[in-house]
Amino acid sequence: MTKKELAYEGKAKKVFRTEDENRFIVSYKDDATAFNGAKKGTIRGKGVVNNRVTNHLMRLLESKGIPTHFVEQLSDTDTLVKKVSIIPLEVVVRNIAAGSLVSRLGLAEGAKLAVPVLEYSYKNDALNDPLVNDYHIAALRLATPEELKIIAGYALRINDILSAYLKDAHITLIDFKLEFGKLPDGAVVLADEISPDTCRFWDDRSGEKLDKDRFRGDLGGAEDAYGEVLKRLLG
Ligand code: TMP
Repeated sequence: MTKKELAYEGKAKKVFRTEDENRFIVSYKDDATAFNGAKKGTIRGKGVVNNRVTNHLMRLLESKGIPTHFVEQLSDTDTLVKKVSIIPLEVVVRNIAAGSLVSRLGLAEGAKLAVPVLEYSYKNDALNDPLVNDYHIAALRLATPEELKIIAGYALRINDILSAYLKDAHITLIDFKLEFGKLPDGAVVLADEISPDTCRFWDDRSGEKLDKDRFRGDLGGAEDAYGEVLKRLLG
């Protein structure tokens, strides 16, 4: 399968058509943005790390019964995926307070949450991805109640699978963001990426941040942190 026209370019990835109308090629970039594109930069080697880590975790999730859009890794930065229509929700699962939850609810960063918290945001850059609940999602027809039930079930199961898996690599899964899509037959599958761009990963001994917060907060060492995640997960 080869790249044909560019179908879409996002902040961190390009998506190309292929000779098969039901397959797309995702190409991961080193470009980094934060705060809805207000902050821009580059994390050298990020594209390779995010592509390889995403595919590794998608394969793991498939093996545990979570359907995904993943088909085949084509190169260090490029992956063949199934065509889906993306459901316009950012689905966030949180285990430990960090990021926007800290400021929104006045929690201390690092506070353990009594149960995992599931949140949805409406994917809309012009509105800055506002938080929405089940009622907004139904009212705006972003997903049907049946689809949302499937999404919530998958998201919490993914949290269990990834938290346990990452623990063996001495990584605490603080929180993460997922996106889901629909195949032409309507089946809901996990899409997009699962990477240090879209998860918070903390070293479980030192508490060191091994994710995009190093870039968001100008902590330095982003390249090394991404490289460390790749090494711990793929050897
Ligand atoms: P938040 O604390 O900023 O709401 O982020 C929660 C999780 O979602 C965190 O792991 C980072 C991830 N995330 C994205 O992947 N994309 C985004 O645009 C945002 C705001 C967060």
